[in-house]
Amino acid sequence: MYSPVHTLILGSEGQLGSELRLALQEKMDPSQLLCTDLKAGGDVGLVRFETLDVLDFKALEDLFERSRPRHVYLLAAMLSAKGETNPHAAWKLNMDGLIAVLDLSLRYGIERVFWPSSIAVFGPESPRDPAVQAGYMDPQTVYGISKLSGELWCRYYHTVHGLDVRSLRYPGIISWRTLPGGGTTDYAVDIFHQALASQQYTCFLQEDSRLPMIYIDDAIRGTLELMNAPTEHIRCRTSYNLGAMDFTPGELAAEIRHRIPSFTIQYAPDFRQVIANQWPMRVDDRKARADWGWSPRFDLAATCDTMLAALSETSSVAR
Ligand SMILES: NC(=O)c1ccc[n+]([C@@H]2O[C@H](COP(=O)([O-])OP(=O)(O)OC[C@H]3O[C@@H](n4cnc5c(N)ncnc54)[C@H](O)[C@@H]3O)[C@@H](O)[C@H]2O)c1
Repeated sequence: MYSPVHTLILGSEGQLGSELRLALQEKMDPSQLLCTDLKAGGDVGLVRFETLDVLDFKALEDLFERSRPRHVYLLAAMLSAKGETNPHAAWKLNMDGLIAVLDLSLRYGIERVFWPSSIAVFGPESPRDPAVQAGYMDPQTVYGISKLSGELWCRYYHTVHGLDVRSLRYPGIISWRTLPGGGTTDYAVDIFHQALASQQYTCFLQEDSRLPMIYIDDAIRGTLELMNAPTEHIRCRTSYNLGAMDFTPGELAAEIRHRIPSFTIQYAPDFRQVIANQWPMRVDDRKARADWGWSPRFDLAATCDTMLAALSETSSVAR
């Protein structure tokens, strides 16, 4: 039995959720935060944690009933590369999980819901340089199809039912605390681990594959700024393009080589190259900047410095 909480995270143990939990823990009374995930929680300190499958509607309903959150973050999902290996499971998790949370949020009068979309909503016929906020979208992966459909469901619940659901189209997220969960941009995290461990990396994308990326601190700050923005500032009810930086594996490798001169990289593109070829090279995020003041802080150099420093420290602590 729980007393009411302010914030509920569903999918709190992944790449994004584990960092969102830490950020929220610092900003609020930890007892007002409830974290849940399919897998057992890590060290959550004073924060309450519960194992929960978002596809178990009865359990989810019971959780909403007991915890009566005001803000809900739905982060449980199957990402692009993993989704292509199990399309039906990806569709089920990404769609049924969202609809269940939207329905329960309506029923329990949730004040604000956050649900992440992705640059995967764009496809080969979409403008790629940059991807515009509102234009032609023809995602080719089941993940992208689920994200585009999810955006439309979010807008539907807002326009038809008045639910305050907010969303960002994240680019590839770069972070060091948690390994990424099976996306097409995962190379931009793996490369740092391998650069420190063995000074070499075999990249699953080709050298000139340009993709938009964001450092985790910017991604979390953008998420919280969006969630804290006054309702009248939120003029996009599908999902906002969120830009920060863009680079190719070759450019990232060169930045790492500035800091680790012995680092070498080879390229062995696999099925993820096909996905990357359909995604934007850059995103136009002027709407997010205009509506709620989005402005990224981390560029490629700052990201490399921060990633290498943090991973060096964690590996020396582990030794
Ligand atoms: N990481 C990125 O680069 C990126 C980019 C764009 C969008 N996103 C979106 O951000 C959100 C979070 O992504 P992430 O990178 O943290 O993913 P992740 O794979 O690292 O984490 C997802 C979490 O959901 C949990 N989960 C899976 N199935 C579940 C279920 N049935 N019930 C409850 N929990 C379940 C997993 O255990 C995991 O902890 C997703 O919606 C993803 O599509 C991520």
